[in-house]
Amino acid sequence: MKKQIKRIGVLTSGGDAPGMNAAIRAVVRCAIFHGLDVTGILRGYSGLIAGEFQKFNRRSVANIIQKGGTILETSRSNEMLEAQGRRKAIDALQAEGIDGCVIIGGGGSFRAAQAMGEEGDIAFIGVPASIDNDIWGSDNAIGFNTAVNTALDAIDRIRDTASAFERIFFVEVMGRKSGFIALAVGLAGGAEQIIVPEIDIDMEELCQNLRVSFKSGKRSSIIVVAEGNTVDDTINIAKYVQMRLKVETRLCTLGHIQRGGSPTAADRILASCLGIAAVEGLLNGKKGHAVGEIKGEVVYTPFRDTWEKKKTIDERYLKYIPVLSL
Ligand code: F6P
Repeated sequence: MKKQIKRIGVLTSGGDAPGMNAAIRAVVRCAIFHGLDVTGILRGYSGLIAGEFQKFNRRSVANIIQKGGTILETSRSNEMLEAQGRRKAIDALQAEGIDGCVIIGGGGSFRAAQAMGEEGDIAFIGVPASIDNDIWGSDNAIGFNTAVNTALDAIDRIRDTASAFERIFFVEVMGRKSGFIALAVGLAGGAEQIIVPEIDIDMEELCQNLRVSFKSGKRSSIIVVAEGNTVDDTINIAKYVQMRLKVETRLCTLGHIQRGGSPTAADRILASCLGIAAVEGLLNGKKGHAVGEIKGEVVYTPFRDTWEKKKTIDERYLKYIPVLSL
């Protein structure tokens, strides 16, 4: 029989992503709209295990839709990998009277939620948020669009200085295991090459392509590299190319800058829609699923698929690069 949900909890977990606050706001306001009580869980799973709760009302989430980061704060908790840690978390949720819980995060966070769902009597539902965009079950994860635009802004600036010298710039973007940011930023930023974890590249071919483009009159180049690429550390790639081409190279690592800042309209809209879908899913008896948006439709994907299935990059982008950048 469907268990009636009276109080829901909401937490953010794993790497923060711009738009998480918009998702928290949507979850809290939608829950209250439907007559539910809401508890904010602080510091992700670490705060959950420690019982760090805050009762929320509509005003608790006022004026946060435009803010980056997460007002709940977040953590990466190793304790949740162990049954003992998850038991403490379930007990804490039960003591607080939480019967449904929204987890805003990525595959690792959903994995812990799946286990807790099997080990206890609480309904969990996930909202995908990760700038890496590597979560199966949604075309875009919350934060990806903002991160791409932030990195793009940086690349436009780098282009100004790159074109003032004869230099090859390597711009390293985030993407531990996936090249979604690199691909989007590379295509939108007019890069000469993109290096992603999903595709092996031949360094000799890369050098040859650069030689050809410099011979044809180019005076500078931008190469976008995903941090998780399988070739080498980006600094070593840059050094190697400098040695082979006798052209100065520079490395710019964008790092955590990509995680911060005010979310774009696209991320705020996605977060608002998915936050609502999560609460309505719980009210309709959904559990053990992550909400997502595929081709504009809300979908619910079993938690296990979100980390077991691998989202594939759009390889067309890689084919377009030599066409567009010569
Ligand atoms: O959240 C994803 C991500 O930003 C990856 O792109 C990156 O490799 C990682 O998190 C960095 O994690 P941390 O902030 O814990 O160093």
